[in-house]
Order: sequence, then structure tokens, then C-alpha cells
Amino acid sequence: MGFSEKQEELVKESWEIMKEDIPALSIHFFTQILEIAPAAKGLFSFLKDTDEIPQNNPKLKAHAVKVFKMTCESAIQLREKGEVVVNDSTLKYLGSVHLQKGVVGPHFEVVKEGLLRTVEKGVGEKWSEEMKGAWAEAYDQLAAALQAEMNKEA
Ligand code: HEM
Repeated sequence: MGFSEKQEELVKESWEIMKEDIPALSIHFFTQILEIAPAAKGLFSFLKDTDEIPQNNPKLKAHAVKVFKMTCESAIQLREKGEVVVNDSTLKYLGSVHLQKGVVGPHFEVVKEGLLRTVEKGVGEKWSEEMKGAWAEAYDQLAAALQAEMNKEA
């Protein structure tokens, strides 16, 4: 089953809305992640030594934005090419960073749930099951590419 133009539009449209509210949505994203998996705190350099999620931390924001943006790019590629193609050196680099940080398979499900809840919050009344499905599919394909690279390097 291919990724439709409508699905691509839903992802792009929601990202356009979310872009306007990055600081708050980044914090919401990490709040969700830690609510689902408190132990994930220890993985992130900017969380492990604090009791609270830091406001305005550039690394926190960068991770959130990367996940949002790369998922959005993955949606575009899925519609255009039918598959996710991450630049080879980017994928190699990201694979080794995550491997070295101790990220494992189940973490990707946690981040997925955090992402979906964050899009829901970000888009407000525009949220729909169809939008959720489009983000979920785009994220799954991206996460699969990253995990395949991690498995290769492990
Ligand atoms: C770092 C992207 C999923 C944990 C990074 C970096 C990027 C990134 C771009 C920064 C690399 C650098 O410049 O050093 C992504 C994308 C993901 C994803 C696109 C999903 C498709 C995950 C998951 C986890 C995770 C599932 C674990 C819960 C980390 C950690 C770091 C990192 C711990 C190092 C951050 C630090 O401590 O400063 N990720 N990531 N990532 N990622 Fe991810």
C-alpha cells in the first residue's frame, strides 16, 4: 500500500502549524517520552542530571525538531519514491550515535507515541485519525531505516 498525496499533505500541513511553536512542542515531546518511559531520561545528556525537563535547551529542541522534520521528509519521500531514503552518510552517522548512546528497538516505539501525542497537541482541532496514520507510517519507515543501520553497525 503506497503513501498517498493526501497523507503527504496531512503531514506537511501539520508540520507547518507545529513549526510556529517549537519551544513548547519540544518540551511536550520530551514530557510524553518520559511519562511513557521514565528510564529513557538517562540516555539524554541534557536530562540525565536534572529533575525537570530543561526549558530552552538547544540540544533538547534539536532532537525534537530533527524527529519532527525527518519524519516530515520521510512522508514526502514515501509519496514521491515509495521508500525512505536518508542520505547515506547521515544514516551512518545517526546509526552510530544512537548505537553508542544505548538506544534499542523499544525506544523507537516510545518516541513514536511521544511524537503522535505532540502532533495531536500541536495541531489542535485539525487532528484526525487519518493524520495520525500518516505520521505513524512516515515515522515507522524512518525508524526502520535507522534501526537497520544500527543493526548493521552493531
Ligand atoms: C541524538 C535523530 C530516535 C535518543 C540524535 C541526533 C539526531 C537524532 C539528529 C543528534 C546527533 C548529533 O548531532 O550528535 C533521531 C531521529 C529519530 C531518533 C530522526 C527517530 C526516527 C531516537 C530514539 C531515542 C533517541 C528512539 C531513544 C529514546 C537519542 C540520544 C541522542 C540522540 C540519547 C544523544 C543526545 C544527547 O544526549 O545530546 N538523534 N533520533 N533518538 N538521540 Fe535520536
